[in-house]
Amino acid sequence: MPRIVVLTGAGLSAESGLGTFRDVGGLWSQYDLNEVATPEGFARDPVRVHEFYNMRRANCRAAAPNAAHIALAKATEQLGDALMLVTQNVDDLHERAGAQNVIHMHGRLDGALCHHCDHRWPAPLVMQADDPCPACQVAATRPDVVWFGEMPHEMETITSAIAGADMFVAIGTSGTVYPAAGFVDIAQDHGVESVEINLDPTSGRFDRILQGKATETVPAFVRTLLNS
Ligand code: OAD
Repeated sequence: MPRIVVLTGAGLSAESGLGTFRDVGGLWSQYDLNEVATPEGFARDPVRVHEFYNMRRANCRAAAPNAAHIALAKATEQLGDALMLVTQNVDDLHERAGAQNVIHMHGRLDGALCHHCDHRWPAPLVMQADDPCPACQVAATRPDVVWFGEMPHEMETITSAIAGADMFVAIGTSGTVYPAAGFVDIAQDHGVESVEINLDPTSGRFDRILQGKATETVPAFVRTLLNS
């Protein structure tokens, strides 16, 4: 059972040049999430949805991990099973910084999923609506990301880890999207210390708040953690 569960959100990758969703100018001010991030939107216009994720995949490929990703990767290496790293981010910047065993609860941009037979495979940089599934050959290719209305991955593993941990840390997430937004309540209910690291404090439900840019606050937090 991990001692610390860390949850990351779009704010962690903001300084790598990947936009957040809800900050000024964020993705959800440019795109209608009902059109590009729901199964219904995909059924209506798969070409448009693929274009949205192709654009995000290209942006991700062009981005590099920042000091916060690198600090967290060091923490996973040094703490091993004592730390569980969970991300809502669909980018691969944790992995490219060297982090081990990251749980991508909202899926991954670099994954493809067949919605006919559930086969998964590595996504090419550009995916198209009529790409055939390599397993069943049906043209039912979608990005392997979790859309609104779908169940995030590994919920049981994550929630029981938080309930049994000593500390829950949420970094760069607005805490508006459930079920991840409810993780702090699980921590509170089980007497687990909760820490928020964010540019602007969010819900006030955390025991401790470290305010600032992730590239500054996260390396400092990890240094303290590894020295304690
Ligand atoms: P949001 O865009 O909702 O929130 C980003 C958070 O990061 C905000 O609280 C910002 O204050 C903070 N932030 C911005 N820049 C920062 C920086 N440099 N350092 C530290 N914090 C910073 O993104 P998420 O909470 O990750 O889901 O969004 C959650 C989910 O909503 C996403 O996974 C996605 C989205 O819709 C799906 O698409 C299913």
